[in-house]
Amino acid sequence: MLIDKRSIPQVSNIEMNMIHADEVDIVNQLYDTLKSGDIKESNRLFEEFLKSVEEHFFEEEQMMLEGRYWARAMHKSEHDTMREKLHNLYENWKKNKNPQEVIEFLEKEYAPWLNLHISRWDAETAMHIGDTA
Ligand SMILES: [Fe+2]
Ligand SMILES: [Fe+2]
Repeated sequence: MLIDKRSIPQVSNIEMNMIHADEVDIVNQLYDTLKSGDIKESNRLFEEFLKSVEEHFFEEEQMMLEGRYWARAMHKSEHDTMREKLHNLYENWKKNKNPQEVIEFLEKEYAPWLNLHISRWDAETAMHIGDTA
């Protein structure tokens, strides 16, 4: 397990909390599978994880647009930075199929980023847009 779901900060928007919980389930499955050394299944889960991240970010960006959130460009640029890092990681994965590289990224970058991003940006955004679920 990469992330304990109970450690994920809760925000004041139910839909966001559900999106985060789903994503943590998928990234935990990916992490365990990478550790097991099953490359084929890791590949499938990596793609599922990328899809889940894109849906996560896109959903929040739609909410910000609909809620006319004042700092949406800043919040979105944090998503864009992570999008780019994940894109590069996936390109390397396709070439090298090196589980350790992905494991390290998830541990050192993605997991702490998610926690901090939710506390800093999603929580603040949720307070402004209210509960749209
Ligand atoms: Fe989020
Ligand atoms: Fe976000």
